Amino acid sequence: MAEQAIPTTGREWHLAARPVGRPVPSDFALVEAPVRQPGPGEVLVRNAYLSVDPYMRGRMNDVKSYVPPFAIGAPMDGGAVGYVVASAAEGFEVGDAVLHGLGWREYATLPAAQGVKVDPALAPLSYYLGVLGMPGLTAYAGLLEVASFKEGDAVFVSGAAGAVGSLVGQIARLKGASRVIGSAGSAEKVATLTGSYGFDAAFNYKDAPVAEQLAAAAPEGIDVYFDNVGGDHLEAAIGALNPHGRVTLCGAIAQYNETSAPAGPRNLALAIGKRLNLRGMLVRDHAALQPQFVAEVAGWLKDGSLRYDETVVKGVENTAEAFLGLLRGDNTGKMVVEL
Ligand SMILES: NC(=O)c1ccc[n+]([C@@H]2O[C@H](COP(=O)([O-])OP(=O)(O)OC[C@H]3O[C@@H](n4cnc5c(N)ncnc54)[C@H](OP(=O)(O)O)[C@@H]3O)[C@@H](O)[C@H]2O)c1
Repeated sequence: MAEQAIPTTGREWHLAARPVGRPVPSDFALVEAPVRQPGPGEVLVRNAYLSVDPYMRGRMNDVKSYVPPFAIGAPMDGGAVGYVVASAAEGFEVGDAVLHGLGWREYATLPAAQGVKVDPALAPLSYYLGVLGMPGLTAYAGLLEVASFKEGDAVFVSGAAGAVGSLVGQIARLKGASRVIGSAGSAEKVATLTGSYGFDAAFNYKDAPVAEQLAAAAPEGIDVYFDNVGGDHLEAAIGALNPHGRVTLCGAIAQYNETSAPAGPRNLALAIGKRLNLRGMLVRDHAALQPQFVAEVAGWLKDGSLRYDETVVKGVENTAEAFLGLLRGDNTGKMVVEL
């Protein structure tokens, strides 16, 4: 492919302030910054899609966690896919599509070793940020490995219309769950769960207490709970779990913006008599499952048995707004920014 004209500057997002509670637009700043030419072993990528993900909320706080915090006045980062526009790295050509970690910006210069070449002919590029990427592996590994899902299990998943949750419920269905139940935050999302995703039951957690709605949706209890939300959802699930039930503690988005101590679960002692297994997960521990995950999920996408939705926000200048929208629940499926 012919060399493309490379601008001398590009736009990138910086953290402007640390939020207290829910982030606001002024916590972010869009900055024009020089585009650095690649040095030996590096590539320059023009980003095509940026990922915004719930874990980024944690990185806005100055606390020690499993990923370092964003620094004030410095560029933010995260998942992105794009095309190489200049290369000084062996094996990387102009035009190659690359998945990497320097999102929240138009142009990224990075060591080629930190990027993964992906094939835009196999799937739309943005899928590598979602169903065929980190959220997809989270759903696959979290259900099959962490929760030790087995055929006949009744599965409840919260955040069920989101990137991870929508895949958890569908994978459970495809793997022979006896019942799949989901919760989400709007009537439209609930209709999508029981309609296009094939869940057996779904409810809007804003309509009535989760415990009541879950008991009605799962009269014979549940065997697996995939937790994306925490708080009242986790407490309700502990109440509904059958003996020897399993819980994947994947996320707790209900408390990411909280400024006071989080809600319960107040009924954790039930886990003793029920012999429950509650297990935290980080997707990066499950890289060994990657080849099996990609093969199986790509097959389901191809034969149409797995539905995958994206909510696409256009323009690098709308990245912060896309992230705020994700925390509000504006998305069905994966929230991505198209540049
Ligand atoms: N452990 C890991 O390795 C790992 C990896 C990836 C993701 N995660 C976690 O998995 C969860 C889902 O991530 P995702 O990328 O798939 O995001 P997502 O579900 O696509 O988007 C976030 C969703 O959270 C819901 N939400 C927001 N506030 C809520 C609240 N107070 N109560 C209940 N739901 C709320 C919104 O949907 P509604 O309209 O339904 O409210 C929103 O659409 C997150 O907790 C994330 O941190 C963990």
